[in-house]
Amino acid sequence: MLSLLPALLLAGAHVCAAQGPGQPQNTFDWSQLKASSDITWVPCNDHFQCARISVPLDYTTPKLGSATIAVMRLPASVPPTDPTYRGPVFFNPGGPGASGVQSLLGVGPFFTSVFGAEFDYVSFDPRGIGFSTPTTDFFASAAETALWNAGNPSQSLNASSDSTAVARFWGLSQVQGQLAAQHDSTGILKYLTTDNAARDMHLINQKLGFKKVRYYGISYGSVLGATFAALFPDKIERMILDGVLDADGWYQANLTIQASATDATLDSFFTSCAAAGPSLCPFSPSTSSTAQDLSNRLTTLTNTILAQPVPVITPGGYGLVDYSRLRQTLFQALYAPYVFFPPLAQALADLEKGNGTSLFAILAQPQFTCGAPAPDGTQPTGNPLAATFGVQCGDAVEVKDSLEQLDAYYRNAAKLSQFAEFLVGSGRITCSGWKIHRQNRFKWPVSNIKTSFPLLFVANTADPVTPKQSAQKTRANFLGSALLVQDSPGHTSTTAPSLCTFGYFKAYMTNGTLPPPDTTCPVDAQIFGGGPPDGSGPVTAAKTRVQLSKEDQDTLQVLKSIGDVLRPIIARW
Ligand SMILES: *[C@@H]1O[C@H](CO)[C@@H](O)[C@H](O)[C@H]1NC(C)=O
Ligand SMILES: *[C@@H]1O[C@H](CO)[C@@H](O)[C@H](O)[C@H]1NC(C)=O
Ligand SMILES: *[C@@H]1O[C@H](CO)[C@@H](O)[C@H](O)[C@H]1NC(C)=O
Ligand SMILES: *[C@@H]1O[C@H](CO)[C@@H](O)[C@H](O)[C@H]1NC(C)=O
Repeated sequence: MLSLLPALLLAGAHVCAAQGPGQPQNTFDWSQLKASSDITWVPCNDHFQCARISVPLDYTTPKLGSATIAVMRLPASVPPTDPTYRGPVFFNPGGPGASGVQSLLGVGPFFTSVFGAEFDYVSFDPRGIGFSTPTTDFFASAAETALWNAGNPSQSLNASSDSTAVARFWGLSQVQGQLAAQHDSTGILKYLTTDNAARDMHLINQKLGFKKVRYYGISYGSVLGATFAALFPDKIERMILDGVLDADGWYQANLTIQASATDATLDSFFTSCAAAGPSLCPFSPSTSSTAQDLSNRLTTLTNTILAQPVPVITPGGYGLVDYSRLRQTLFQALYAPYVFFPPLAQALADLEKGNGTSLFAILAQPQFTCGAPAPDGTQPTGNPLAATFGVQCGDAVEVKDSLEQLDAYYRNAAKLSQFAEFLVGSGRITCSGWKIHRQNRFKWPVSNIKTSFPLLFVANTADPVTPKQSAQKTRANFLGSALLVQDSPGHTSTTAPSLCTFGYFKAYMTNGTLPPPDTTCPVDAQIFGGGPPDGSGPVTAAKTRVQLSKEDQDTLQVLKSIGDVLRPIIARW
């Protein structure tokens, strides 16, 4: 999501959107649960427990009022009195704007089976998000939201050839920023910042009877974790930050470094497709095709579509496969290559033949209805994108750049990646329209932070939105921390199952063991069935499987399930 979300999905549907298929749905009526200053668990959603806790809007001035945070726990299999009980592990799925409790419904049971049932798994909806109240919105109603979205469709704009692109995006950001300020009747926007979410986590952990936190955060969850570690360095028991953002850039409204490995992620499409050959990758015309051939082929196809879009009408939906749609589909596929490159290869091959049906389907949203939110409090109200920008722009320095300066900022990023249009805009350009900033909020930079336990940073060799470079930059602020690299394209280590990565996670969480310096983990998956991602030769899936113990096979299944649950949350599929 967020800056991890294509900037131009700014106006994307949400109030009307259905949750992705196969995700466990919340059945608990949060509105019936009274907020309390302590954690009072009630049973909810089968094996889970729910609580709502009151927190000060402003920790320096508690009399300004309170917000209510939705917290959920999957309790350990042993009671707290048992000597093997280890306490809570907090999880945040990123965004900002994603519901922590919703994500825990999906991943909690899998965490229990791989990381251990001696831990509780806990997540919460950060302020302004999901089931926490008050909520945030740009618009007064679902209908108004739908009208705005219809009137301002996401457009992918090649700013190097179209100088109005940045200007248009800038203009929309001004409108959005003013709307957010207008609809902030509760005054929550000023207090959504990540420092406050970190203070909330500290408070929740204390109320649960613990002094130090164990935490696993992915994507934006790395900003929450790093901020927590900067504010409370002596309160770290364990902290894994996976898919790490440039925390300094986050606070400076400059996410340029995000674009460092985006093109390399697309390159992995060409290399893995060429290595797999036409029998496994339909976009490869012959066994002698090289990655460069495929890259050229995609450029030709893109130019063809730019000149002439392909109309699509199917029973499930209709529209155009135009330049914008093609570019957005390519970019989104980069988040999860192991899942989306095979259908992408087929879709591109079809599109070359003039058939846009399968390409159109890749980005198709689940069917949605624009009804009023469920009256019974089982669905979140509010607008996740308003919360996303509220957190991101509220954290960041006030952007006072002129349009010319923003244009220069964009062009600088465009030198790093052909996908810059989806990346840097959402930070600096969107935030240039943001009106609400709290003067005494926490600000980066920080340096030489000595935490009570070393942090574990995790990066992929090619992550389209949180590259290794940003993990290295954030890590440099924390003394004694370690960096584990997973040899895969995609966003966060959950993009592909790896027994190696998992082993280091588990050893760190349970025993506090850090991976040796320069550790790179292979993944136990192939993008196209016939060969590993590095193209080093065909290995059949069956052959790899035979070498694995039953336990390892089960672990791989669970790791794959964690990826499946988190994918729609972190990539907004
Ligand atoms: C954007 O436009 C420039 C100039 O026309 C062109 O060289 C470049 O290939 C285009 N990029 C994409 C991704 O279409
Ligand atoms: C943003 O950061 C990049 C380096 O990542 C730097 O080159 C650029 O000048 C910065 N832009 C602004 C506006 O600070
Ligand atoms: C386009 O491709 C889809 C499969 O992806 C197929 O069902 C459909 O018949 C094709 N349309 C045409 C006109 O060939
Ligand atoms: C933790 O340490 C114990 C004792 O050295 C060892 O038996 C166990 O395998 C370790 N667990 C992990 C997950 O590394």
